[in-house]
Parts: sequence; structure tokens; C-alpha cells
Amino acid sequence: MAKIIIANWKMNPVSIEEAVELAQATDYENLVMCPPFPFLKAVGSVISKAKLGAQDLFWEGPVGPFTGEVSATELKKIGVQYVIIGHSERRKNLGETDEMVGKKFVAAVKNGLIPILCVGETWEEKQSGEKEKVLKEQIKTAFQKLKIDPPVGGLKLKIYVAYEPVWAISTSGVNSHPDRPEDTLETIAFIKKVLSELNYNFDIKFIYGGSVNLQNAGDFLQHEEIEGALIGGASLKPEEMEKIITQI
Ligand code: PGA
Repeated sequence: MAKIIIANWKMNPVSIEEAVELAQATDYENLVMCPPFPFLKAVGSVISKAKLGAQDLFWEGPVGPFTGEVSATELKKIGVQYVIIGHSERRKNLGETDEMVGKKFVAAVKNGLIPILCVGETWEEKQSGEKEKVLKEQIKTAFQKLKIDPPVGGLKLKIYVAYEPVWAISTSGVNSHPDRPEDTLETIAFIKKVLSELNYNFDIKFIYGGSVNLQNAGDFLQHEEIEGALIGGASLKPEEMEKIITQI
């Protein structure tokens, strides 16, 4: 099975013209492009191989008095198929809790969007030996919500879990170097164990994110257990993306 690249543009670029240009330059199969909300429609209209993803959603909807929020239905109506949920920058800057992330996760699944659920520990949590506890809590809160509030139809759901150690994200400034692939493999095995205890019948794929670039993408993606990468900074560089995509 081909691996997947999730291109998380974050709050880039500054104009719709640049967004369209970047989209055209990085329109590849097995790539999910996640531009900021204002560019989704324009990007969706110029890509033919890549899929469209959003960087967030709100759990209520399809419409309602929720200033500044965007619902799953609204996203679907403009062609969005994937959505990043619980990115650490939102957890940190906007106070998104495991509980809120769980609600968003359920909203995505129930509305037929494929979620990319981000989990990961901070540097302090890693240093103080709390990594596994944190990951377990993040995973359990999200998946248990899905159990309480399952989608109708008994579908075998496709879900991506992105392990993104917060300290490894390129802009984190703490340590800012990628995880070691062998450690990522161990972490994925741990997450799988947590999920197996929860006994779910979902089609879950595991990907890694945090300072993935041209130099190290192959080190991660060569492993069968790492089924893709979530890429921030490097996703804005077409020359780099072209070379990364050939490795999947
Ligand atoms: P990065 O970002 O590739 O720039 O480290 C990854 C992410 O935040 O999803």
C-alpha cells in the first residue's frame, strides 16, 4: 500500500495566488494538502491528484451560533476529505484539551471526513517519564468518545493517527530535531497496544510528524510500520516535496 504525505501548510502562504501556485507545484497522488481555510476552495479547484484536507473543524454543526468556527459539513461541501485534529499547536496556543480534541475527532468521523488525529508528548513530559501516560490519555479520550458516540452503519472507518512529538516540530524551538525512527517504531507499537486494549475495529494507519524533510524522510518511510508522514515546513518547498514524494 502506498504511503501518505499530509502537507500541513499551517498559516501559510499569505495570499490566494501563492496558495494556488504552491498547490499546482505539489499536486501529487498520495498527498493530502491542508491549506488555511480561506484557500481551501481555490486549492481544491486546481489540484487533480492530491486530496484536500483541513487543519481543524468544530464539533457542532452543520450550522449554528459558533463565531469563528467551521463545521465538518461546511468543509465537506467544498470538497474537503481529510481533517487534522488535535495538532499540538492548537493544544498549546488555543488550549485544546483531550476532551475537545475527542469531540472534534468524533465529529469528523460521523460526518465522513477522514481524521488525522495528532498525539505527542512535550519535551518536559518526555524528560519526566510521562510520555506513555500522556499518549495513552490522548488516545483513550478520543477513541472512547467514538465508542460512546459511534457513527451509524457499522462502517470500517479509516483513521490516521499521527505521532508528533511536540519537541520535534520544526518551530517548537525546544529541541527541534526529528525523533529517532527506532523510537518512533517503539511509540507506534505502544499506541497500537493501547488501541488493542480498547478493542476497536477501525482501519487505523500510523504516521510520523515532526521535522520531516528531504534528508530524513526516507529514514522514517522505509519502515513498514510508519505508513506516512505529516510534514509542515518542508511542505511549503516544492523542490523538497517532489523528492520526498518519490520515496513513498
Ligand atoms: P514540521 O511540522 O514538519 O515543520 O516539523 C510538522 C507539524 O507541525 O505537523
